[in-house]
Amino acid sequence: MNFQDKKIMSTVAITSLGHYLPQRRLTNHELEQMVDTSDEWITVRTGIKERRVADGEKTSDMAIKAANEAIEKAGLDPHKIELIIVGTVSPDSNFPSVACLVQSALGARHAAAFDVSAACSGFLFALTTAKQYLQNGMFKNALVIAVDKFTNLVDWNDRSTCVLFGDGAGACVLQCVENSNGEILSDYMFSLGAQGEFMKVVVEDRKPLDQKTEKIKFPYAVMRGQELFKVAVNSMAAAVVIAARRANVKVEDIECVVPHQANDRIISAVAKKLKIPKEKFFINIQKYGNMSAASIAIALYEAVAEEKIKKGDHVALVTFGAGLTAAANIVKW
Ligand code: ACO
Repeated sequence: MNFQDKKIMSTVAITSLGHYLPQRRLTNHELEQMVDTSDEWITVRTGIKERRVADGEKTSDMAIKAANEAIEKAGLDPHKIELIIVGTVSPDSNFPSVACLVQSALGARHAAAFDVSAACSGFLFALTTAKQYLQNGMFKNALVIAVDKFTNLVDWNDRSTCVLFGDGAGACVLQCVENSNGEILSDYMFSLGAQGEFMKVVVEDRKPLDQKTEKIKFPYAVMRGQELFKVAVNSMAAAVVIAARRANVKVEDIECVVPHQANDRIISAVAKKLKIPKEKFFINIQKYGNMSAASIAIALYEAVAEEKIKKGDHVALVTFGAGLTAAANIVKW
């Protein structure tokens, strides 16, 4: 049967979740020994107390662990996975993609697999991309993974960035199903390439045909924090409003917001702008810092596990990231 013959179903739902966090904890107090910073500065300015570091683990290792949990919970035979999309900006190498490495490790030999690059918006960009393939009937299930090993991208001498980030992976299975919790009601994605300079990874350009350059400096992230802060607040608030309108849900009827975890003060400002009480926002930044694409996937996993999200709740997933990029989805749990 080719995909044109398949029944096109409009309902796409997140049917299971998985996650993985590296064991190694890096506390603010340890960072005090590494750069000129303090636990107080980091806590007051960001809300972060500690983060995880993938020491000796690759991005794909984390992705595979999160994926295994999600497919096991969904009861999905790896041979039946049709699509694997990974949101990441820190792949093991330029190629093969993390998605192909996951495909191989799972034995998902019938799946199409590729990565999506949208920095901290990686999970929602990957989720919405996968949803389109399911909604138009091309595939009936997808494994979406959000993973980043951002500790590989920061300059550990730069206190303005190295205190902010951590590593982790989240995953979910998407399926075409009627009357399931986890139904994705609406999507919104947005990019602001003209402001890409606000956060970027600096790489040394190799001269073509150059056989003399012995060592290429590691790429590292640079950031204009204050400018990003403003864009983050405005774009996240706008994204929730647009996604809610598309879902035909009033902003005040959203029971839980799972925001990107870049800075607790950004989350407070978004809550204020949306006039949604901050208690409705799920926050775990204190434990993990900013895990880039993985932040929302792991926060959603924990919010469900801790029963902060209940059956029937309208959940707003909302993010912004380098690129710049922003996205939101409304999900009915
Ligand atoms: N410890 C101590 N002092 C520090 C540190 C540190 N780790 N980092 C910076 N400072 C100093 C600065 O040098 C500055 O000192 P000065 O006043 O003597 O010049 C002072 O603290 C204030 O610095 P600001 O940059 O003004 O601090 P701000 O309150 O803006 O907080 C922060 C900085 C936390 C980075 C904030 O701007 C922010 O969160 N921005 C958004 C960043 C973000 O979300 N990035 C993720 C992008 S998404 C993605 O795709 C990866």
